[in-house]
Amino acid sequence: MSAGGPRSRGETLALRHQLIGSSCKLFFPENPVKIIQAKNQYIYDENGNAYLDCINNVAHVGHCHPEVVRAAHQQNLLLNTNTRYLHDNLVDYAQRLSKTLPEKLCIFFFLNSGSEANDLALRLARQYTKHEDIIVLEDAYHGHLTSLIDISPYKFRNLGGQKEWVHVAPLPDTYRGLYREDHEAPARAYADEVEKIIDQGLKKNRKFAAFFVESLPSVAGQIILPEGYFQKTAMHIRKAGGVFVADEIQVGFGRVGKHFWAFQLQGEDFIPDIVTMGKPMGNGHPIACVATTKEIAEAFSATGVEYFNTYGGNPVSCAIGITVLDVIEKEQLQARALQVGSLLMKLLTQQKAKHPLIGDVRGVGLFIGVDLVKDQESRSPATKEAEFIIARLKEEFVILSSDGPGRNVLKFKPPLCFSAEDAKLVVKKLDKILTEVEEAEASRSLC
Ligand SMILES: Cc1ncc(COP(=O)(O)O)c(C=O)c1O
Repeated sequence: MSAGGPRSRGETLALRHQLIGSSCKLFFPENPVKIIQAKNQYIYDENGNAYLDCINNVAHVGHCHPEVVRAAHQQNLLLNTNTRYLHDNLVDYAQRLSKTLPEKLCIFFFLNSGSEANDLALRLARQYTKHEDIIVLEDAYHGHLTSLIDISPYKFRNLGGQKEWVHVAPLPDTYRGLYREDHEAPARAYADEVEKIIDQGLKKNRKFAAFFVESLPSVAGQIILPEGYFQKTAMHIRKAGGVFVADEIQVGFGRVGKHFWAFQLQGEDFIPDIVTMGKPMGNGHPIACVATTKEIAEAFSATGVEYFNTYGGNPVSCAIGITVLDVIEKEQLQARALQVGSLLMKLLTQQKAKHPLIGDVRGVGLFIGVDLVKDQESRSPATKEAEFIIARLKEEFVILSSDGPGRNVLKFKPPLCFSAEDAKLVVKKLDKILTEVEEAEASRSLC
């Protein structure tokens, strides 16, 4: 609020243009929403309009969850400081997280953002292996630090380009990728591509530190990786002396429904060497984590160089993190993600049968993508149509976004309190808008 009372939306926008770096983008730049409040799966603008939030995977247990807010407030009243003192919240939280993970991943580092977590994962991998090179997937995004832009094709393609220590493997997208749904063994075929990259690199004396991969690639277009891909790629990277890093920053903490971690979708027998976590951990409070093995953590300590992070793992962050885990359990949000996600998948799949604009519906739990195409045969991305649909949904008070290299994949990743009624409502609105788009196209082609 300004000294003279609340600012108008126009005044806030003008000040933002004046004061904030223009590379910090707004949703709906032509007509941005000014929000002043949020609760559960709703955000409210300055006129009290409620928007259904289908994309905020940070507000994991619901915007402004009262138990999370209370936990932060109570700990703030008592103490907040760095991790150089003994405090129970830090060890309690590490203990709670360790119960969700395979036994081998038993050492924890706490940080403030997903980017910090991935940057530390890079350091751990390199220190442990004494190698430098990293393999990532096409269109991957792992964070905004210099080190992570270097391993994020989603960003570096438009910046300085690819560093010689970075290797990009084909995205295992069985809808639009190299090997598709008709391939008899896509996991093997895509893993063979990783092996090929390693073999070629070794011939040039490159040394591989890690295969760095999101457990379900998100900005690449909500990709569901074929089962068994991680086991095979882990075998290849480990044979070359590298480690497997699973980035769970978007998709962890029960979102996928069947499991707490998305890497577990690959099967019980798969265990990464390093797992990075962020966004949903603190329900909006900046907190992140790296979980790894004793051996990797010890190799990192062996340098004798202290790892110090001013805010990472502070008592307030840990109190919040513990409460988020409590709420997931108490409100059975993982089971809810499975139930509501299955319903949303079913309803969207019904829409696919009705609307030629929908090429593919894929997802697991409350992580779902609707791939819009201009043509079912060529599968060429319907980018403009996706943009229009997102804008129209906003007029209907639904917030959705699109991503993927063609910006044509509608992304569902709502807070886990999203309900069956919400799923029905958003699909009904989507159906109406898709019909509008298709009718407008049909009448244009008649002219
Ligand atoms: C998969 C993935 N990794 C890492 C990050 C970076 O996280 P942060 O923005 O918290 O630094 C993001 C952010 O969007 C992400 O989606």
